[in-house]
Amino acid sequence: MLFSLILLFYRITILMTKKKILFVCLGNICRSPSAEAVFKGLVKSKGVANEFEIDSAGTYAYHEGEQADRRMQQHAIKRGFDLTSISRPFYPETDWGHFDFIVAMDNKNFSDLKELARNADDLQKLHKITSFSTEYDYDQIPDPYYGGDAGFELVLDLLEDAGEGFYKFVNKNNQP
Ligand code: 4NP
Repeated sequence: MLFSLILLFYRITILMTKKKILFVCLGNICRSPSAEAVFKGLVKSKGVANEFEIDSAGTYAYHEGEQADRRMQQHAIKRGFDLTSISRPFYPETDWGHFDFIVAMDNKNFSDLKELARNADDLQKLHKITSFSTEYDYDQIPDPYYGGDAGFELVLDLLEDAGEGFYKFVNKNNQP
């Protein structure tokens, strides 16, 4: 009985303190679903998946309801990342309030999100994924949609690298 109560308390505490992360690109079919899958894989490998809520969205609703781009899926699965998310638009009215970290994939996503921010608190939550790169010197993740295989591979290279840096930032940011 006591054990069940402790377990319940633990589960409620975890739920209340989950770090909530939203990755955002343009269409939510290539880069941000990949960021979502890469970061989910990273926290799972560290045994802390239950401490995170991770989602993705697009600034452009054109692909709403679609699965991730087939080419992106094919490249991602070769590295063990299953892209299961369904495209949805960014909702300023609810997403700014709900998430702790809103992470743009490129400079245009970043400036579009900046325009949508309602106040200084929203702006504090806004980041660009390449700010957390350690091995690469790209200032954004290039859009792979109209390119070939190399563009999709580059998306994954940049995300796998920046994911580690972002993980460190998120943990540091949440320490008292
Ligand atoms: P994403 O890539 O923003 O990484 O999902 C794109 C997806 C669709 C389009 C452009 C980029 N599009 O023009 O439809």
